[in-house]
Amino acid sequence: MALIPLIDITELPPGTCREVVAAGRVFAVYNVDGQFHALDGICPHAGGPLGKGTLRGGVVTCPWHGWQFHVATGQHCLNSRVCAASYPTELLHGQVCIQLD
Ligand code: FES
Repeated sequence: MALIPLIDITELPPGTCREVVAAGRVFAVYNVDGQFHALDGICPHAGGPLGKGTLRGGVVTCPWHGWQFHVATGQHCLNSRVCAASYPTELLHGQVCIQLD
């Protein structure tokens, strides 16, 4: 298990999201009222950038075709069979980090 730093918390105010490349992969990281969440940054529909979507409450809307996901779990809002990978987050030295296997 590796702890991978994604972004400084000062760069991710509440209600915002970012796309981050780390460990050779793309991640989407979100701040929902001070709670940080991370998903695979590649939308499971057709590869859109989930870190560049619109975040409202705990739901992100993919900018390509509008699929919506709960950022805490990666679960699609309407189709329970669709899920984006999610990663546990930790704060360390002012950085939002994720745990990768
Ligand atoms: S690529 Fe995300 S909704 Fe189509």
